[in-house]
Amino acid sequence: MVRFVTSLLALSATAWAATSCSASSQCPKDKPCCSQYGECGTGAYCLGGCDPQASFAIDACAPMPVCQSKSYTWDNLDNSVLNTKYLGNTTDADWTYSGFPKTENGSLLMTMPKESVGTLFANNHYIWYGKVSGKIKSSRGKGVVTAFILLSDVKDEIDYEWVGADLTDVQTNYYWQGVLDWHNSANATFSGDDSFDDWHTYEIDWQPDQLQWIIDGEVKRTLKKSATYNETSKQYQYPQTPSRLQMSLWPAGQSSNAEGTIAWAGGEIDWDSEDIKDKGYYYATIGQVDVQCYATPDGVTTKGNTSYVYTSSDAMQSDVEVTGNSTVLGSLGATGLDPTLGANSSSSATSSGSDSVPTNSSGGSGSAGNSTTSTGSGSSSDSGSGTSTESGNPSSTSSSFSQGTSSSAANPSDRVLSGSLFAVLVAVGGLVTL
Ligand SMILES: *[C@@H]1O[C@H](CO)[C@@H](O)[C@H](O)[C@H]1NC(C)=O
Ligand SMILES: *[C@@H]1O[C@H](CO)[C@@H](O)[C@H](O)[C@H]1NC(C)=O
Ligand SMILES: *[C@@H]1O[C@H](CO)[C@@H](O)[C@H](O)[C@H]1NC(C)=O
Ligand SMILES: *[C@@H]1O[C@H](CO)[C@@H](O)[C@H](O)[C@H]1NC(C)=O
Ligand SMILES: *[C@@H]1O[C@H](CO)[C@@H](O)[C@H](O)[C@H]1NC(C)=O
Ligand SMILES: *[C@@H]1O[C@H](CO)[C@@H](O)[C@H](O)[C@H]1NC(C)=O
Ligand SMILES: *[C@@H]1O[C@H](CO)[C@@H](O)[C@H](O)[C@H]1NC(C)=O
Ligand SMILES: *[C@@H]1O[C@H](CO)[C@@H](O)[C@H](O)[C@H]1NC(C)=O
Ligand SMILES: *[C@@H]1O[C@H](CO)[C@@H](O)[C@H](O)[C@H]1NC(C)=O
Repeated sequence: MVRFVTSLLALSATAWAATSCSASSQCPKDKPCCSQYGECGTGAYCLGGCDPQASFAIDACAPMPVCQSKSYTWDNLDNSVLNTKYLGNTTDADWTYSGFPKTENGSLLMTMPKESVGTLFANNHYIWYGKVSGKIKSSRGKGVVTAFILLSDVKDEIDYEWVGADLTDVQTNYYWQGVLDWHNSANATFSGDDSFDDWHTYEIDWQPDQLQWIIDGEVKRTLKKSATYNETSKQYQYPQTPSRLQMSLWPAGQSSNAEGTIAWAGGEIDWDSEDIKDKGYYYATIGQVDVQCYATPDGVTTKGNTSYVYTSSDAMQSDVEVTGNSTVLGSLGATGLDPTLGANSSSSATSSGSDSVPTNSSGGSGSAGNSTTSTGSGSSSDSGSGTSTESGNPSSTSSSFSQGTSSSAANPSDRVLSGSLFAVLVAVGGLVTL
């Protein structure tokens, strides 16, 4: 996945004139934090998703808030903030979002109005092993993908993904440090009803030595850490670093995407579907989310109970410790290297320029989208998913993300590109032009 992240940069760099970053090309000192989307900045760039391997220094990213066992339901959105308003204090909000969330009947609706790039809802606490459970009704329709994933800042990832063209099963997948391996994906079926009309409970039981995908109490898939050992590198390629829960609804089948991605998603999106006509949007419904934290693994250095921090850019389990350091930034100009900068200025969350909130760099129409109605801009697809080819980065390969152009449709990489980190990229990149 690192590969297509890299290749997307070329695109965003021209669109946003932002400084791009990767593990082989770290951020400069004045914008030390590499965001989840591969661009350098301060403030929110240093919070959830900030990649320590691609940042100026290992401690440029703010410390990661520790796991908190909690149940979430949605009578309102009080517990959520727009990603432009959050400075790392989890007491203020458990979730940040971009896009078009709303609540209905005590549930969260992640919506995707016509021609939009959908909604991303991310939890602000990191989980370092735990059980995450979501009572979910997926979206439906070809090209429409719902995702419920754990994603770490170094791109360890554990996924559930529902492709709207196939409501009788859900795809499970995992990654270690963003390394693409299409053997990691598998389908899980559930008995009886379909995933749109009926509630099912989808769980990820993530332990240091094994990982399970569980649906309605039934174990569907088990991954043993021991099975992920790489004899060559002598490493376990197993998700093992603190991860945030991210839920999203995104347009994998928008026409500008690569053929392989569209095919994986079941075809091009119909923007005149029943749901668009009736409701004005596609939607996925989240009834409840439960997070149960597990103890930190044996042997981990513990100096406090506030935050996780990386101690080495190898970013394996043994390279993380628990500290008492604050997770809060003083302003959108602050970074992990200077966390209290601007703390005394009263308007700390609103001052600061375009390199301080990853989703709102420039050219946007204002807020990242507090609206449940269609924007109908028609241009939303360009930013997150326009044509992008080789970035020139050595880590990128000829099969990297390539849209609009001709990359072979059935290329396995294409299929993997349909993965959920891509969802996140599309969702956020696209917001810029909403
Ligand atoms: C986080 O916010 C709470 C409530 O607004 C406040 O009491 C607390 O001091 C803040 N924590 C930090 C570290 O700023
Ligand atoms: C909310 O409840 C109403 C009335 O029961 C129903 O018509 C509507 O479809 C429900 N909405 C969702 C998102 O389930
Ligand atoms: C999962 O099912 C879909 C169609 O339902 C199929 O295209 C895909 O290849 C399957 N994936 C795996 C890993 O079997
Ligand atoms: C195992 O590690 C080697 C050396 O880092 C790497 O080249 C290879 O791709 C890895 N294998 C897998 C399946 O990731
Ligand atoms: C966290 O650490 C502080 C300071 O050492 C201590 O006072 C507090 O009780 C601890 N909290 C928890 C939940 O363990
Ligand atoms: C934690 O805070 C201490 C004291 O402010 C600082 O010296 C140390 O570098 C911080 N550690 C990390 C990993 O940020
Ligand atoms: C904020 O103001 C207080 C009181 O004036 C001062 O003690 C503190 O050092 C200041 N903090 C920063 C980060 O400037
Ligand atoms: C977001 O973008 C809009 C329009 O470009 C701008 O007015 C606003 O200040 C930006 N917000 C932030 C936090 O940068
Ligand atoms: C959207 O804005 C309206 C009015 O400004 C506000 O009442 C509502 O809570 C906002 N919704 C979200 C999801 O932020």
